[in-house]
Amino acid sequence: MGKKEIRVLFVCLGNICRSPAAEGILKHLLQEVPDLKVYVESCGLDQWHVGRSPDARMTAKAASRGFYLEGKAQLFDPSFFHAFDYILAADQEVLQTLYDYAQPHHKSKIYLMTHFSTLYKGKDVPDPYYNEGFDKVMDILEDSCKGFIKHLIKNK
Ligand code: 4NP
Repeated sequence: MGKKEIRVLFVCLGNICRSPAAEGILKHLLQEVPDLKVYVESCGLDQWHVGRSPDARMTAKAASRGFYLEGKAQLFDPSFFHAFDYILAADQEVLQTLYDYAQPHHKSKIYLMTHFSTLYKGKDVPDPYYNEGFDKVMDILEDSCKGFIKHLIKNK
């Protein structure tokens, strides 16, 4: 029997910094775990940057650690609640907005990105757009994605 694909969506505000970085990190780390069949995508809650590539500062910081960011920013769509198994929010504000949009039976799919992290569990991934905190974002997302993969392996 074929393995069931797990579908994961990262959500932030602009879809040019935190969520594309999380997507790139998770996709890269999953290459080491061929047993897991995971589809990964990202999106934003605001339309400012729709259609744009990830922020050049985020892309450079990710590349310096061996992670490559791709894709163009897209807006969250309510159909994503049905289409994805895990919906991972960058911070409490994004989390709350998703909870507000979600029908009751979809709320259990929504977590903070740091939910599965060892070092940063329950913390926000801080918005780096105006404060240049790109290293911190990478630290948090690397640990969070590693923890998330452990969770997926355990629940396979
Ligand atoms: P992201 O970062 O939500 O991690 O993609 C942001 C990108 C752009 C803006 C805010 C946050 N902005 O205000 O344009």
